[in-house]
Amino acid sequence: MTADKRGMHGIWSSRWTFILAATGSAVGLGNIWKFPYIAGENGGGAFVLVYLLCILTAGIPIMMAEVLLGRKARMSPIHTMERLTATAKAPRMFAGIGWMGAVAGFCILSFYSVIAGWTVYYTVKMATGTFTGISGENAGAVFSDLLADPQSLMLYHTIFMVLVGVVIARGVHRGLENAVRIMMPLLFIMLILLLGYSLTTPGFSQGFNFLFSFDFSKLSQESVVVALGHAFFTLSLGMGAIMAYGAYMPADASLGKTVLAVGILDTIVALAAGLVIFPIVFTNGLEPGAGPGLMFQTLPIAFGGLPGGVLIGTTFFVLVVIAAWSSAISIAEPAVAWCVEKGVGRGRSTFIVCALAWFLGIGTVFSFNDWSNNQFFVHVTPTVAEQADATSVQLPEAEWFAYADVSELERLYPPTESVNFQITGKTFFDVLDFLTANILLPLGGVLISLFGGWFLSRRSVADEARVNNTAIFEIWRFMIRFVSPAAVLFVFIHGIL
Ligand code: PHE
Ligand code: NA
Repeated sequence: MTADKRGMHGIWSSRWTFILAATGSAVGLGNIWKFPYIAGENGGGAFVLVYLLCILTAGIPIMMAEVLLGRKARMSPIHTMERLTATAKAPRMFAGIGWMGAVAGFCILSFYSVIAGWTVYYTVKMATGTFTGISGENAGAVFSDLLADPQSLMLYHTIFMVLVGVVIARGVHRGLENAVRIMMPLLFIMLILLLGYSLTTPGFSQGFNFLFSFDFSKLSQESVVVALGHAFFTLSLGMGAIMAYGAYMPADASLGKTVLAVGILDTIVALAAGLVIFPIVFTNGLEPGAGPGLMFQTLPIAFGGLPGGVLIGTTFFVLVVIAAWSSAISIAEPAVAWCVEKGVGRGRSTFIVCALAWFLGIGTVFSFNDWSNNQFFVHVTPTVAEQADATSVQLPEAEWFAYADVSELERLYPPTESVNFQITGKTFFDVLDFLTANILLPLGGVLISLFGGWFLSRRSVADEARVNNTAIFEIWRFMIRFVSPAAVLFVFIHGIL
């Protein structure tokens, strides 16, 4: 394991290439698929505001810390954290950041690839004209038919994972730079074009208000946890992806502006995606809280109604595939880099990591069909039936099960004249998503900020950051020491109580 000034995996050609790669990592399904649907599920405006606050107070400062730590050690996150923890004489716990990140990375990659597979499928459907002139209802049916079919899901999951493996095996440097350089600007242009379309729909103002009118009464405890978790997920933080990319950052590049640019680009893409999707939702009388299918049930309607929609729609889904691709690569890179440092060849390392994540992905494939009733953390909540008189009904106790077959529970708790039973749980996919975004990533982020803020000296941090502006440096250091950990812990503790 040698780590000279250039590290053993190579260095990005320039600061600009780092921006492209980090943006490639950040901008992905999180922005176009996940952000709109969780904003929809959590009531819109107030959720969006909390999310933006999390980006500002925790996301961007922690992103700078992560890049800084990576560049300091120039190794995979596991070795970076082991080494920095030893030299800083910090508690061993901090060396665990890299390991925890690797676990989170496998979990994320496993479901990310399945969802990205949907976008591959949609590219094909788009190109073959399935959506031309389609109604909202039929667009919904295309999506539910796909989810009901584990074989197709497996096929596209596999295709996507192979795409990821091919690039990683060639080395991030050669494999990725070219794709991102052309595709990211194109994605922006397509989003602007779609924004033009959604502006002309009658639902535009309703969609706009949904995203930007802050009604705090709609905000639940869990929404705040989800907003924070998504801030980490969307910026690729808390699991080492950005740390790994930071390890390949040129030594003389200044950190502050670079990271800020990535954070701003990521936010713009998410908001633009929301501004495209929600007007279509309201124009077509769809449900903003439709869940993971939101993007797949709305965008094809827009393309189906556009002149030249086949071409535009196909291009768009190709770009989403590429955005997901460049993100997935960064999810796998920490584990692959670690294997390489352990002496395993790059090709073999890639195969091992992708195969494991692929295997775990089978759980997500079945979460949408055969195993959709097999749920974890299932709550049975009795509520007063609509036609009953609330004052005279004695509600039974709420119950919960660590694991249950939901269809079984529905049989055991049929609605009565006075009581309905609301049964909610998490599928295998939901569990992976919640565990990673809402627990592991924020936890990793807090540890990173505490480590960078309290266990590295001001001198060594300032040297590595190469910021010319001392005021900015002081603000950042204050954020990373106090504000970011406090924000994350506050949300965490709130969410648990
Ligand atoms: N940031 C990516 C997205 O928004 C997902 C991601 C998460 C990438 C964690 C790397 C690490 O789609
Ligand atoms: Na993102």
